[in-house]
Amino acid sequence: MKQADKNIAVLSGDGIGPEVINEAIKILNVISEKTDIRFNFDNASIGASAIDKFDNPFPDPTKDICNNSDAILFGAIGDPKYDNNPKAKIRPEDGLLEMRKYLGLYANVRPIKVYESLINSSPLKSSILDKTDFVVFRELTGGIYFGEKGFDNQTNSAYDTCRYTKDEIERISHLAFKEAEKRRNQLTLVDKANVLETSRLWRDIVQKISYEYKNVDVQYLFVDNAAMKIITNPSDFDVILTENMFGDIITDEASVITGSLGMLPSASIGDKISLFEPIHGSYPQAAGKNIANPMAMILSASMMLDLSFGLKTYSEIIDKSVSDALDNGVVTEDINKDQNYSTTYVGDWISERVKKLL
Ligand code: IPM
Ligand code: MN
Repeated sequence: MKQADKNIAVLSGDGIGPEVINEAIKILNVISEKTDIRFNFDNASIGASAIDKFDNPFPDPTKDICNNSDAILFGAIGDPKYDNNPKAKIRPEDGLLEMRKYLGLYANVRPIKVYESLINSSPLKSSILDKTDFVVFRELTGGIYFGEKGFDNQTNSAYDTCRYTKDEIERISHLAFKEAEKRRNQLTLVDKANVLETSRLWRDIVQKISYEYKNVDVQYLFVDNAAMKIITNPSDFDVILTENMFGDIITDEASVITGSLGMLPSASIGDKISLFEPIHGSYPQAAGKNIANPMAMILSASMMLDLSFGLKTYSEIIDKSVSDALDNGVVTEDINKDQNYSTTYVGDWISERVKKLL
């Protein structure tokens, strides 16, 4: 069967974003060459590089390109020149947040997977890490990130408001429950229901929804307790469901226990369109040096093939090729200080592997 063209918006962003995205595109092109699937790539600016060009971190041409695409590949955003300046009027991060809201990317999915060959790089003992394999569903367009905020000159105080609607909680909860059904039938809601009204609403709604998913065993954990358990018992988790800010914090925590931040992909799911990006940031110190690990970006492209295009076979081929690269020591310096290869070399090796497995 002839596959339709897939239009992919390419938002490379800042720092190492452009370098790692090039490697992901290399691999998608290999798939294109050997199959009848056509990928059309359309580049657009975001973040600090968009501020430089358009004075806007999420400019209109980028909106148009995203709207006309079937999926988005996203590199990274952030530039140190904005980080330590609380008075900066425009920030690269504003572009990311605006994009999430504008495109309705309501569920951020971050799989936390441990690679056998990297287990010794983890800060945790391998006995604790053994069998760790979970996924976090973080709500991405609500909560304190998007609630009313401001500074009150009269009282010299600042405020941020956390607000959630029933609908916002329901749509991501259904996604998380469905994922639990495909995995090990276990879902943990992480909240702070002993203190926060919004958390009590989450609990109430998740409890009601749980009756529709009879096979899924639901647990409720306060976020402080969850933060401990991710370190002490990471293998107990299967699907974690949580709100925006808690999800931001615990996914950073979860990502480092694998010992391989450079390996972790993510998906931000929307109703119409989804976006795929590595969990690592823009890593400005490495930019332009051809040393960044392209694997998380390549695995993000793989998630795109599976989740946006239903091309699971190809996605599995990419994942297998990345594991093969790891097993053969074809890695960048973040993984092996003594013996390592460049970003482009690792990308070339993985694309050759993909070619063989296709
Ligand atoms: C993330 C990042 C963003 C967030 C920042 C850059 C606004 O930390 O994607 O996790 O807090 O959501
Ligand atoms: Mn974060």
